[in-house]
Amino acid sequence: MERAKPARGRYNEKMDTQRPVTTAGTFALGANGEMTVHRLGFGAMRLTGRGIWGEPTDRAECLRVLRRAVDLGVDFIDTADSYGPYVSEDLIREALHPYPDGLVIATKAGLTRPGPNRWDAVGRPEYLRQEVEMSLRRLAVDRLDLFQLHRIDPKVPAAEQFGFLADLVHEGKVHYVGLSEVTVAELEAARRVVPIVSVQNRYNLIDRASEDVLVHCESERIGFIPWNPIAAGALARPGGPVDDVARATGATPSQVALAWLLARSPVMLPIPGTASVSHLEDNCAAATVQLSVEQVNALTAATRPVEAPG
Ligand SMILES: NC(=O)c1ccc[n+]([C@@H]2O[C@H](COP(=O)([O-])OP(=O)(O)OC[C@H]3O[C@@H](n4cnc5c(N)ncnc54)[C@H](OP(=O)(O)O)[C@@H]3O)[C@@H](O)[C@H]2O)c1
Repeated sequence: MERAKPARGRYNEKMDTQRPVTTAGTFALGANGEMTVHRLGFGAMRLTGRGIWGEPTDRAECLRVLRRAVDLGVDFIDTADSYGPYVSEDLIREALHPYPDGLVIATKAGLTRPGPNRWDAVGRPEYLRQEVEMSLRRLAVDRLDLFQLHRIDPKVPAAEQFGFLADLVHEGKVHYVGLSEVTVAELEAARRVVPIVSVQNRYNLIDRASEDVLVHCESERIGFIPWNPIAAGALARPGGPVDDVARATGATPSQVALAWLLARSPVMLPIPGTASVSHLEDNCAAATVQLSVEQVNALTAATRPVEAPG
């Protein structure tokens, strides 16, 4: 049977213990390689209040999380105008500006926030333009590194939304463009209008509904950013499907869930989110956990979605 090295999952001896994320390998967003990031990023949605609404309970800890993430080697941070709204982007600027060289901040727009836990798609170009201008101001940058359309708004012709994304690139407001929660057909329709460097869909060990999108991204060398990578914390709790492998490797359940994602595809860029420094440290060390081929296969098979009969 084919074996990866090392044969059993364990911590990689070549890891940089100070900056574990650098062990995850890299992915180049865009064709020319000028925006290359380590494959384990940080999702900044949880640096907000309940229902992703308002200020976080412990603001000082959230600022520490962002600074510690960079110390640990994170150079890819995902946020959105709608997280808070505005709270997450404000915290990123406060914690990290002036930004260290090589830090890529990916933001999004396209979801309005009528209240806690409520998200409504709005893709009218004049609204998206306002949000891009406000993200530039909040993040204190001249150009957004990666701007992702948070959702395609079904009330607005898709071609109009994609055309607006192309305008942003031509105007120099945005370096690269990504999409979120799209099908393969939607991705290809967008690519006929504007180059797309990344897709952000929900994907984790127990929810692989976007498998076809991942496979397509891999064949096209498009970054696949799985949101909910540890199933909103469900995969971090003991008693779940990763327990056996966690015990065998000495890693935590959250680390196994993230290591499985990293092993799944070279275009995978997980962005686990947390408002706690200790959870951040736990997650970042996942980059140093090497699973064997057998362990990856066992996890994949053990949690494979069951085919509906007929
Ligand atoms: N494109 C989209 O539509 C979309 C939608 C949702 C999210 N996102 C992006 O994806 C990122 C990640 O998604 P997510 O936050 O929903 O899911 P996630 O990363 O799978 O899970 C985050 C949750 O897990 C907990 N957690 C994290 N690390 C842990 C650990 N080591 N041990 C125990 N619990 C842990 C966190 O709580 P604590 O704070 O207590 O650690 C938090 O509640 C977001 O930050 C955001 O950037 C995108």
